[in-house]
Amino acid sequence: MVPRKQKSIGVFDSGIGGLTVVRALMSRLPYENITYFGDTARVPYGNKSAEVVRQYSMEDTQFLIGQHVKMIVVACNTASAVALDALRTQFDIPIIGVIAPGAARAVRVTRHGRIGVIGTLATVASKSYPSEILARNKNLTVVSKACPLFVPLAEEGWSEHRIAQMVAEEYLVSLRKERIDTLILGCTHYPILRGVIQRVLGADVQLVDSGEAASEEVAALLAEKEMLNPSTVLPNHSFFVSDVPQRFRELGEIFLGTTQMRVTKVHIP
Ligand code: DGL
Repeated sequence: MVPRKQKSIGVFDSGIGGLTVVRALMSRLPYENITYFGDTARVPYGNKSAEVVRQYSMEDTQFLIGQHVKMIVVACNTASAVALDALRTQFDIPIIGVIAPGAARAVRVTRHGRIGVIGTLATVASKSYPSEILARNKNLTVVSKACPLFVPLAEEGWSEHRIAQMVAEEYLVSLRKERIDTLILGCTHYPILRGVIQRVLGADVQLVDSGEAASEEVAALLAEKEMLNPSTVLPNHSFFVSDVPQRFRELGEIFLGTTQMRVTKVHIP
């Protein structure tokens, strides 16, 4: 049997976007094994009902537990927003989402107390970010905006395209008017559009990457529970998807800067 410390960190997302979180985990925890599940057959989660996203998240988690992971990271903001409590009730394994870490970091870095949040329709409708932020400091102002078109733009690789610039201006104008000083990138795909978002909002606005913030929390949790992998050899990264692996592999290899991605199609549930 594999000793607990050497087991993988399980990560799931609705599709490919969660690789932004994997990238953050790889750079913070370079010796950890990672098992990723991308629900490419059922993506997107961001415009589905909370009930359906909860059901999918249960199945995704169950799959990863079947792969004998030592903890779960819910990389998908939408799933973190609507399913995290249910997952923690249902499964007896440490589970970290991206909402609380992103909110906590924004509260730490805001200078004037005006925080913007962008995410999918479901994440914004859940009000999870505002409630996590206001629970930490009720005097802060939070302004949210759903930016659904950012997801296909990122997947198309159009992060620097003039269309991305136009879409970003359209979506972000209201946040600029609200004079936010900090913006939470509350969707797996948005770190890919970081450059254009920063340009549209101006250099004064601090961008908070929730996935990056979550990787810090994962490291802290593993250290606290004495579950960090003591290995110093190259780790194992396995990727599973629920639809054909080809596109996922092509985009993923560009994204993670590797030519070695092992991607396997599985049937869920
Ligand atoms: N992964 C989703 C999120 O972070 C974005 C893509 C989707 O809608 O499924 O909210």
